[in-house]
Amino acid sequence: MKKYAIVGTGHRGTQAYLCPLAKELPDCATLVAACDLNPKRAEAALDYAGLSAPVYTDFDKMLAETNPDTIIVTTKDAAHDEYIIRALEAGCDVITEKPMTTTGPKCNAIMEAEKRTGKNVAVTFNCRFMPFYVRVKELLREKIVGDIYSVHFEWMLNTDHGADYFRRWHSRRENSGSLLIHKSTHHFDLLNWWLEDEPVKVNAFGTRRFYTPDHQPHGERCLTCQYKSTCEYYLDIESDEFYKKIYLDVEDVDGYRRDRCIFSEEIDIEDTVALNIQYKGGVVATYALNAHCPYEGMKIVFNGEKGRIEVADCLGKKTLTVFNRQGDEIVYNIPQKNTLPKHLAGADQLTKDNLGGHGGSDPIMRAALFRGCTHDPLGQVADTRAGMFSLGIGAAANVSMAEGRSVELSELFDFI
Ligand SMILES: NC(=O)c1ccc[n+]([C@@H]2O[C@H](COP(=O)([O-])OP(=O)(O)OC[C@H]3O[C@@H](n4cnc5c(N)ncnc54)[C@H](O)[C@@H]3O)[C@@H](O)[C@H]2O)c1
Repeated sequence: MKKYAIVGTGHRGTQAYLCPLAKELPDCATLVAACDLNPKRAEAALDYAGLSAPVYTDFDKMLAETNPDTIIVTTKDAAHDEYIIRALEAGCDVITEKPMTTTGPKCNAIMEAEKRTGKNVAVTFNCRFMPFYVRVKELLREKIVGDIYSVHFEWMLNTDHGADYFRRWHSRRENSGSLLIHKSTHHFDLLNWWLEDEPVKVNAFGTRRFYTPDHQPHGERCLTCQYKSTCEYYLDIESDEFYKKIYLDVEDVDGYRRDRCIFSEEIDIEDTVALNIQYKGGVVATYALNAHCPYEGMKIVFNGEKGRIEVADCLGKKTLTVFNRQGDEIVYNIPQKNTLPKHLAGADQLTKDNLGGHGGSDPIMRAALFRGCTHDPLGQVADTRAGMFSLGIGAAANVSMAEGRSVELSELFDFI
């Protein structure tokens, strides 16, 4: 039985790790401790998950007293590096949430520590486990349209999900590195994984057009806002049992307000970005993220030597169309429901009933990470190098926007 400790017991820590440790993984994993800046949140999270374990605010004390094998890192993004490095130095392996970290120097320090200690860091890119995206990977692997020359990739966030990033710590780039790191890390990892190539150079433009203080009259937070009865973005934090328990009821300790106004003067991240990316193997890509769309989803086009693949996942509909060079259209069978990937060790522990979470990807990914993955032909388990190239595009884009120039990833990362 492997011993795990977690640092960061908010939404993701509770839903994606603590609850599954209680219900999905008790035969192979045991939680020995939980750590958070806010000990009341950690207690509330454990209670919600139905687990009991000692709570710490001092991470090193937790490591010394509970001797875990692996640390799960689910704090805010900008704090990942310090816990990953301290865990590695204490002889632990690490499972860290995406993004691995938020800047080039922090990434370099993580990779140096991993090399020096010989311990292992896994980065949880759950999109790699979504059946629809796996199908795209398989088609590209089969070279269904030959070598890929160019990509056009668009991601849409609506003003419900998208707005949520502007309510809390994500809205400050010192915490999240901006949406190009926090959110787009998923998309850039998919792109790197699909293409099996390494990004080398980025040019970016970005702005904030929607979540601006002059958008509408507003207050500091939804709970006390005088406009709550008319605001279409009002979040009723008291009516959600989970939010109330892990945020509102414990905010006296750390002042973490889960329902801060999305039009706050303090926000400093973009909601509208456009990038060009050049890959080592020759692919050129365009990418756009808009966090104020009427609907959620993604569209991507791969232009290849022998045709074109068009992929869309929006408005509840997934389509995957392949065109040959003559323009003939082939519509592929895609997974309609979550399928169990037989190649992952431990997949037989999953049933149709316990799939769920991010299109079924979370439980499949957990099976690989917590039960061991002996055979991984599609390379779905991500390492620090994948973490670096994914956050690398966002980090280079941040520099590009700030300095008005194209930026090579090799300027920022030592391990390229
Ligand atoms: N893979 C996914 O699909 C996915 C989805 C959501 C979030 N995430 C990632 O999970 C992580 C957590 O996100 P969340 O939505 O749970 O945020 P959250 O704010 O709900 O939880 C973060 C927790 O970390 C704690 N924390 C913050 N800074 C800390 C520090 N320096 N030391 C110790 N504890 C600290 C906070 O008190 C809070 O309890 C982020 O890295 C995020 O990017 C991944």
